[in-house]
Amino acid sequence: MSLFIKKPLEQLMAQEGDSSKGLKRTLGVGNLIALGIGAIIGAGLFVRTADAAASAAGPAVMVSFIVAAVGCAFAGLCYAEFASMIPIAGSAYAYAYATMGEFMAWIIGWALVLEYALASATVSIAWSEYLNNLLGGVIPYELCHSPFEAALDGTTGIINLPALFILVILTLVLIKGTQESASLNAVIVFVKVAIVLIFIVIGWGFINEANYTPFMIPETTPGHEGWNVHGWGGVLGGAGIVFFAFIGFDAVSTAAQEAKNPKRDMPIGILGSLLVCTILYVLFSHVLTGVANWQDFKIAGKEASVAYAIKTYMPGYEWLGTLVTVAILAGFSSVILVMLMGQSRVFYSMSKDGLVPKVFSELHPKFRTPFKSNALLFIFVGLFAGFVPGSVAGDLTSFGTLFAFVLVCVGIWVLRVKNPEAVRPFKTPLVPLVPILGMVVCSAMIFSLGQDTLVSAAVWMAIGLVIYFTYSKKNSVLRKG
Ligand code: ALA
Repeated sequence: MSLFIKKPLEQLMAQEGDSSKGLKRTLGVGNLIALGIGAIIGAGLFVRTADAAASAAGPAVMVSFIVAAVGCAFAGLCYAEFASMIPIAGSAYAYAYATMGEFMAWIIGWALVLEYALASATVSIAWSEYLNNLLGGVIPYELCHSPFEAALDGTTGIINLPALFILVILTLVLIKGTQESASLNAVIVFVKVAIVLIFIVIGWGFINEANYTPFMIPETTPGHEGWNVHGWGGVLGGAGIVFFAFIGFDAVSTAAQEAKNPKRDMPIGILGSLLVCTILYVLFSHVLTGVANWQDFKIAGKEASVAYAIKTYMPGYEWLGTLVTVAILAGFSSVILVMLMGQSRVFYSMSKDGLVPKVFSELHPKFRTPFKSNALLFIFVGLFAGFVPGSVAGDLTSFGTLFAFVLVCVGIWVLRVKNPEAVRPFKTPLVPLVPILGMVVCSAMIFSLGQDTLVSAAVWMAIGLVIYFTYSKKNSVLRKG
């Protein structure tokens, strides 16, 4: 049978109608936007903005945010069409199964593991960074860094214990149930947005205009290594790095099976959360690189950069530094929560389809959550959180997400041609222009991630192929009829 066997749209929708036995429908549009913002604002903003400024774009990092937002908007418009017409759990994976066939669906599902699982790992590592900052650096370096990192004095890390700690707690919250986690998430989202706004408003008064000169770092500046560092190339390189900050708006689509009115609420949830975050990011990065100089983020302000900028350059506002750190810790938790949930929901769909073992779709008899999946996922994510540097996990996350975005853009176009009559409650405008632009901008960001990331990602995808041909293809429910 063909590698490109497709799941009929009708079958997908029937599966959706059969939700009485599966996940509960409890999320409204407010919950969905909160879920989106909960997943979006996190380590990308509070850690990777400074990273991108220091290593690639300088103060022009705000332009990097705009580039990344444009790519996300094109892909988001495609996601919204899919999410409204195929409102079931599993996100891009499920869409691909109906449009591009099982093999492509597998590839996307496998890339989404990089996105959701490694994003949880990356953010838990960032959580550990800010926790140590809050505690005044009392956690020994060895116990809050991976073995691949070394301090200036030569101490090397052993294991990142705080990152593992937060992962255990949130896995337990998730096992207990989506409704409870959605309410907790709403409170955290409020705090997180408030803190971003407070930093923008108060920080604005401390901007030192000299920090914006030069706005775009000339390629003659020391540290210029490779086309994606400094100048316009650096702006694109920066976009690849801060792209991480946008990851998550698509996580809204993984909750489609738990949404009360998915056809209307999915597009609003996805595009609404993306818009709110873009405005906040551009303002935030403008203030951050105005308060501190981009060079500060190379050494002294490398870790917990926002707390550093406030404590160093905003005299009288040390309390704000502490408050921001506490809010960031809570904010990161909500990101990890949504990412872990997204991952278990993608595996839920893949498991129902027979492509991954049944254990990933077994629901808890009382909580109706995929508890075994959550527990297994903790082990996998924990390996990265405990033993891999945040920047490595972060770049791989960006790769997985961007790759899925490109394939979603392709899918929308394919489906318009092959299945023009399908009911589309939300239609992506200007097809094929919007999908093509989405593919171009997202592919450019993929290439800006650098060679090491691309090689690691290729290895990951190769492992996926082996599993597909040795397990998934044989166990596919669709193939068994
Ligand atoms: N967008 C999420 C973050 O910035 C993954 O942490």
